[in-house]
Amino acid sequence: MISERTQVGIVGAGPAGLLLSRLLALAGIDSVVVENRSRAYCEARQRAGLLEDRTVRLLRAAGLADRLDREGLEHGGIYLQFAGERHHLDFRDLVGRTVTVYAQTEIVKDLISERTRAGAALHFDISATEVEGIGTDHPVLRYADADGQRHQVRCDVVAGCDGFHGICRPAMPAGLMTVAERAYPYAWLGILADVPPSTDELIYCRHADGFALHSMRSLEISRLYLQVPLDEDITAWPDDRIWAELWRRFEVPAWELKEGPILEKSVTPMRSFVAAPMRSGRLFLAGDAAHIVPPTGAKGLNLALADVAVLADALVALIRDGDGGPAGAYSAACLSRVWRATHFSWWMTSNLHVPPGQDPMDEQLQLAQLRYVVASRAAATTLAENYCGWPG
Ligand code: FAD
Ligand code: DHB
Repeated sequence: MISERTQVGIVGAGPAGLLLSRLLALAGIDSVVVENRSRAYCEARQRAGLLEDRTVRLLRAAGLADRLDREGLEHGGIYLQFAGERHHLDFRDLVGRTVTVYAQTEIVKDLISERTRAGAALHFDISATEVEGIGTDHPVLRYADADGQRHQVRCDVVAGCDGFHGICRPAMPAGLMTVAERAYPYAWLGILADVPPSTDELIYCRHADGFALHSMRSLEISRLYLQVPLDEDITAWPDDRIWAELWRRFEVPAWELKEGPILEKSVTPMRSFVAAPMRSGRLFLAGDAAHIVPPTGAKGLNLALADVAVLADALVALIRDGDGGPAGAYSAACLSRVWRATHFSWWMTSNLHVPPGQDPMDEQLQLAQLRYVVASRAAATTLAENYCGWPG
């Protein structure tokens, strides 16, 4: 067993763990990041793609936005389509704000390359992660490295940034946490396609046969999603069927969907999950380890990065200044934003998807809500404010 010492042991090299390590390093706090997947896997895992303006500012302040500022696509609104008509919501006009298309894969690459350049501890391909002693002042993080060698890291704090299936949430004391959870009765089939986007801004579309979303990763690569039944078998969706269904759902007069080679496809279930509190003793949870939202509205990545901004300040106060106040306020501060985003994601999801067996009353309630959003400046402003991120 190799014994080591650090100030913050970070489990997980997703966006949350990596950004936390960077923010701590900027404040002179030492950390060790352990990740059970390979670097290549972390850098290629297709997930989110849309950043709130606040997230962009956070990455800039952390000195991580050179490529984001060069390659990110700033969007001043979205299209909302329903009943065969496409409407534009102009966020610049409504709330004076924008969002930015920049893929999670690219953020992860930028963060890994910065940490590697700095020569700081970041261990991929580890296994058997364990956390112990969170009720003491020196919790211990244990893992086996890529060669199977066991390590024991004595920490001041452990940060559980290990996603929904990680080991840190289960390491919280039994009976401490309450969990609020909702599974939605549909899934998303997502594709990445080697074709320029057929739209300048994202299209969120409610069609009688289900939701569709046209997003993008760059001016060359499109990202599109279709609502499909829960547990849908991906083999039921050959490329031709996917393009035909996307065409059908997005169709409006004088608009064309450009088709191209499909680089990747996957089916993702949709769920809301919030575990509270996000801290016990010297173990702090951040990002998907504590909460997940359905993807409609693109909040997951933004919430994860917002958590670690709060956490980094709290840990600097605790470790450097001996001030436990911000650490004590951490969970409540994050959960307030998390619940706002959970409500918004639920609202977007519920109004844009067609659940199995939807009755005419629910259908008309959805349509009434969508018509209101595009007709009322007050309603459109509410959507824009939440989409761009609240609080901003
Ligand atoms: P993660 O990115 O999950 O990172 C956690 C890391 O911890 C992973 O690298 C994992 O390998 C590692 N880990 C897990 N267990 C251990 C362990 N025991 N030891 C060491 N390391 C461990 N959000 C959107 O906004 N839009 C989207 O379109 C979107 N699509 C998504 C699609 C999928 C399939 C998933 C799963 C999520 C999607 N999300 C989306 C959500 C968004 O990607 C997440 O909110 C974001 O990745 C959260 O970052 P994180 O760092 O908290 O967690
Ligand atoms: C993307 C995903 C979303 O859920 C969303 O609301 C917007 C964009 C995306 O993957 O690009």
